[in-house]
Amino acid sequence: MGTFSHIPVLLNETLANLSIKPDGIYADGTAGGGGHSFEIGSRLSENGMLICTDRDAEAVEACKKRLSSLECKTEIIHSEFSSLPLILEDRAIKLDGLLLDLGVSSYQLDSAERGFSYMQNAPLDMRMNKNDAVTAADIINTYSENELSRIFFEYGEERWSKHIARKIVARRQEKPFETTFELVDAIRSAMPAKALNEAQHPAKRVFQAVRIAVNGELSQISDILSTIMPYMNHGGRICVITFHSLEDRIVKTSFATAEHPCTCPPDFPICVCGKKSLGKVITKKPVVPSEEEIKANPRARSSKLRVFEVK
Ligand SMILES: C[S@@+](CC[C@H](N)C(=O)[O-])C[C@H]1O[C@@H](n2cnc3c(N)ncnc32)[C@H](O)[C@@H]1O
Repeated sequence: MGTFSHIPVLLNETLANLSIKPDGIYADGTAGGGGHSFEIGSRLSENGMLICTDRDAEAVEACKKRLSSLECKTEIIHSEFSSLPLILEDRAIKLDGLLLDLGVSSYQLDSAERGFSYMQNAPLDMRMNKNDAVTAADIINTYSENELSRIFFEYGEERWSKHIARKIVARRQEKPFETTFELVDAIRSAMPAKALNEAQHPAKRVFQAVRIAVNGELSQISDILSTIMPYMNHGGRICVITFHSLEDRIVKTSFATAEHPCTCPPDFPICVCGKKSLGKVITKKPVVPSEEEIKANPRARSSKLRVFEVK
């Protein structure tokens, strides 16, 4: 395992919005190398507690090292963040704050052998948790043309999804896909010249789509946001940092539904569905990085922070 290098994005904005109480209980669902976690933990006293999860075993190891000097109680668990309700139920505790900093870390992107990057040749893997059964190669080599096209379109918003899926299915009949560069080559050869000349790398959207499918990323977000509310203390804050519109839409909608869950028709004189508001959205508009932060860390460019306060 190399050095875990990742610059935490929107760090000051996240810390301010978590409204950290020194004796509180906080969770970082996407701890990575512990960049945000360390700063949260540094603001806690020995009575405070920080629970971290990450589905990547290498991140968990790096995070354990990074947090070893903290004064507060820490638990660093190799797990999906969607298991946090169970983890909290087991320990009979509730949270004063939860952070989710979604997507992949720079460490994962830069570790060529993990297969996340279209810039480096490696086996087509893309699993955040190496114990998961399905790799990117399994998806590319076994999904039907329709299913591939749907994934590229829905998870990557790729305009050339049908052309790319058709090309992949034709190529895999000659030889199964094994590497990232074989996939990049198929994507390039399925696209018209004008699409190849765009500023964005031609494989960016398909790689994002396959990564989301391999790791079930979108259902993880909706699962946690629909189950975590009973495990938050009064006034507890949920901070979520997203990196693309699909993630952001789920967070925005989940928070709006938690604030206004009533499903009664607007002309009903009183509420009969019985669904009560769980809290309020703190960020009517998402918090975005400053120009300075983007200059210092270009990977922060598309990040957006949304915050919810639980009743
Ligand atoms: C953007 S990085 C977080 C970086 C971290 N905030 C830091 O400052 O070092 C995202 C991390 O979340 C993890 N991750 C993504 N989805 C996850 C999930 N559903 N459950 C647990 N960890 C997840 C990834 O493995 C990765 O390490």
